[in-house]
Amino acid sequence: MKGLILAGGSGRRLRPLTHTSAKQLVPIANKPILHYVIEDLVGVGVTDLGIVVGDTADEIRASVGDGSRWGATVTYIEQSAPLGLAHAVVEAGGFLGDDRFVMYLGDNMFEDSLEAVVDGFAEGGVVSARLLLSRVDDPGSFGVAELGNDGSICRLVEKPDDPRSDLALVGVYLFGPAIHEAVRSIEPSARGELEITDAISWLVDRGDTVEHRLLDGWWIDTGKKDPLLECNRLVLDGIVGEVAGSVDDTSRLDGMVRVGAGAEVVDSTLVGPVVVAAGARIQGSRVGPYVSVGADCTITGATVDHSVLMDSSRVAGGAHLSDSVLGRHAEVSGGGSASLLLGDHSVVELGESRGVGGD
Ligand code: DAU
Repeated sequence: MKGLILAGGSGRRLRPLTHTSAKQLVPIANKPILHYVIEDLVGVGVTDLGIVVGDTADEIRASVGDGSRWGATVTYIEQSAPLGLAHAVVEAGGFLGDDRFVMYLGDNMFEDSLEAVVDGFAEGGVVSARLLLSRVDDPGSFGVAELGNDGSICRLVEKPDDPRSDLALVGVYLFGPAIHEAVRSIEPSARGELEITDAISWLVDRGDTVEHRLLDGWWIDTGKKDPLLECNRLVLDGIVGEVAGSVDDTSRLDGMVRVGAGAEVVDSTLVGPVVVAAGARIQGSRVGPYVSVGADCTITGATVDHSVLMDSSRVAGGAHLSDSVLGRHAEVSGGGSASLLLGDHSVVELGESRGVGGD
């Protein structure tokens, strides 16, 4: 079975961060989301991977390479324009051939392994698609599945205004070759995209067998700031503390804290779970809980909690950051409190009592 990872698209909902970088490469606990995706697929024996890329192709190639580090082979598929998930399948047709495949949205993260999900699908048979569903509070933000009296899927609607079920389509789909006819038979939706939801509906309407599984563990579409931070929180909850860098005698580490090689903690309190990557420096600060500090970041005389600081970002001068995502080389200073989503190289000076965002 092949794997098709969708890592194109426009990343609108994470702007300004995604003006300069791919949303699939935002780090969760200091590891890019896309790397978790690859690990999940390789973990269930899917090593022949196609990655659909768009404007951020170069950055994704630089981060993933040829896949050999995971024991996988990667074929990059350049999507001509971000015209929808089904459009990505059309353009990946040459790579996929008639093989059965797992399609994995490159901005989705899962608690559990895909083992139960893929079980038995590769062997073939009459099943055209197997979907993964999860109950959500805001079904209008997702593709939604309606089940008939016999428990099978009878209708699928993409981001309905008036959802008739709370069962969201999760970002892992298993397909047989019948999907190729479906993606070529549908028309663009009102938002101008070829929707995979419509392609699967086409299969259901034709009478094909479309199975589903209900997801047990957590699942997060990280495409917006709050779910991304929630995902960081959930993954950090599973870390084990380890200090490879240096922590001076005046500093205190509480709970699970990982300090990477070459990182320095001076005169600070770190309240786990917290991860600090190589080369970061934290001085005279309070950091945590639920903070990922990227490589070569500096936090000086500041307080940071529930946040993701991407590589080489800086927080200083009495700033108190909560629920924030800072792009690479972003800088925040000044004595106020704020919750920010900053693009790479943004500079923000906080006033005493108000927060200001910018890019
Ligand atoms: O997260 C689950 C949801 O994902 C499903 O419930 C929806 O039915 C499904 O349409 C999808 O909705 P989103 O609006 O969240 O999809 P998004 O535009 O974020 O794209 C998902 C991934 O696919 C993301 O990594 C970008 C990539 N992509 C997207 C488009 C539109 C491509 O590679 N090419 C594209 O043309």
